[in-house]
Amino acid sequence: MESVSHLPAILASILGVLCLHFVYNRLSSPLARIPGPAISKWTDLVYIHYWFAGKAPNYVHKLHEIYGPIVRTGPNRVDICSVDAVKEIHKTNSRFLKSPWYRTLVPNNIETVFSTTDPYFHSARRRLLASPISDTSLHQHEELITGRVKMTIGKMAEETQTSGATDIFKWWLFMATDIIGELSFGESFRMLEAGEASNTCIQKCQTSKSVLIPKQKSQYTLDLEGVSAFQPIRTTFPNLVLFGKYLPLPVLKRTVAIGKRMRIYATQSIERYKKILTENPSNPKKTLFTKLFDTEKGGLTDDEIQKEAQGYIVAGSDTTAVTLTYLTYAVCGNRRIRDKLVAEVSALSEPIHDNDIRNLPYLNMVTSEALRIHTAVPFGLPRSVPSEGASFNGYFLPSGATVSTQSYSLHRDPTIFPDPYTFNPERWENPTKEMKDISIPFGGGSRICIGMHLARMELRLGSVLFFREFPNAQRSDKEGMSAKDMEMQSFFLMAPKGHRCLIETK
Ligand code: HEM
Repeated sequence: MESVSHLPAILASILGVLCLHFVYNRLSSPLARIPGPAISKWTDLVYIHYWFAGKAPNYVHKLHEIYGPIVRTGPNRVDICSVDAVKEIHKTNSRFLKSPWYRTLVPNNIETVFSTTDPYFHSARRRLLASPISDTSLHQHEELITGRVKMTIGKMAEETQTSGATDIFKWWLFMATDIIGELSFGESFRMLEAGEASNTCIQKCQTSKSVLIPKQKSQYTLDLEGVSAFQPIRTTFPNLVLFGKYLPLPVLKRTVAIGKRMRIYATQSIERYKKILTENPSNPKKTLFTKLFDTEKGGLTDDEIQKEAQGYIVAGSDTTAVTLTYLTYAVCGNRRIRDKLVAEVSALSEPIHDNDIRNLPYLNMVTSEALRIHTAVPFGLPRSVPSEGASFNGYFLPSGATVSTQSYSLHRDPTIFPDPYTFNPERWENPTKEMKDISIPFGGGSRICIGMHLARMELRLGSVLFFREFPNAQRSDKEGMSAKDMEMQSFFLMAPKGHRCLIETK
């Protein structure tokens, strides 16, 4: 009986010791010296709040403006805005490995070249995947890519005819998704042809007054949008998501369902492509994975290919579409810049080949500026501090802490990019070494974007063909379209908040 009566006191003591231990740990951690808001010492909650609101990069940027180049953004997390940190963390064979957070970012926690945290898995996988998507190999797909870009421009012209303006975000997204779908699975999703995705079950979407916003979205389009929008849930509650189908929470059930459907789309597409391969083994339509189907020659299993292809679709559609959208929007918002670019691209003679446009000086300046200020991945790229710890800006970071370098802040450093909020392509006429070193729109080192050459090709062909066809393109204010629609929302990948961008092309 006596021992029972002491139980509350014992529990209270244990709780007290745990609390003291927690407080001691927080105060004695080497991270305690790092500048930042007091709340970051104790909890991630404020950061998570902004992550859910799609504003994490803006929040971290504000902290840099207040506290300087190194800031603590959570009990175990630091963001650094400096050239030295970028060079050290994102160098080839860096000891700063991707943090385990990446596995929670992708649906179904799959291990792919993008999500893996294991350097051995990564280098073996990257060696296999890199060659078919290299700058040289991509030329065999140039005709397909040019064809899709031309179809996109045609759709934009048609929409302008009927509606007076065109939603370029929608069309660039359909284009980028169709291209990466066809290059990965051997067949396009036919989003462009249908004007909407034609895939499987069409689901009613909220009715909109806008003639330019589709009234119906296919399940596939909704799922692609969902992959990005549900990233905060997957990363914040990875364990809950694992058991999501058993829990009575609609949001978790939807997250799980999206992951499942994405897997089914990929499996079905791979099966269809394998059928084509068996029916026509001597001359199959080439994809980025064709060679890898041969497991005897060191390729990948169907399951591995399916996961990588699934990863390519997510990584390779929104990113390219968002960059092209902001590039077009920025150029259309400044007559001087637009006319200068139009003059350069109009002087080209038909047919347009990628090789003829890759060195166009003004186009390259415009692209660099779009990738600087409207980078599609403005988010810090979280890395784990290696076992020996690390020192930056005079502060020691212990092993296991998470360190990130977000391009949103790096690309707005006023000491490197004067007047950083202005879209000014001319700043790239003679870029300084620091400008190049601190620019990481495609990441860096061994983990640099594998699809970068494909993305750059789409950006080049997309911009050249658009401004040749629509030399007078300008921003539209139809249907209440305003700068507010173009505010950035970032769940790792960035997108315009309004999910539309109306341009008048006549
Ligand atoms: C303008 C378009 C694009 C931008 C801005 C972009 C940006 C990035 C960035 C910043 C990373 C590094 C992520 C990190 O270190 O955490 C990355 C990695 C990656 N990207 Fe892209 N990307 C673009 C287009 C593409 C395309 C078209 C593909 C299609 C294949 C793709 C596939 C990947 C993959 C698979 C990785 C992981 C590479 C690795 O870890 O080895 N990306 N991308």
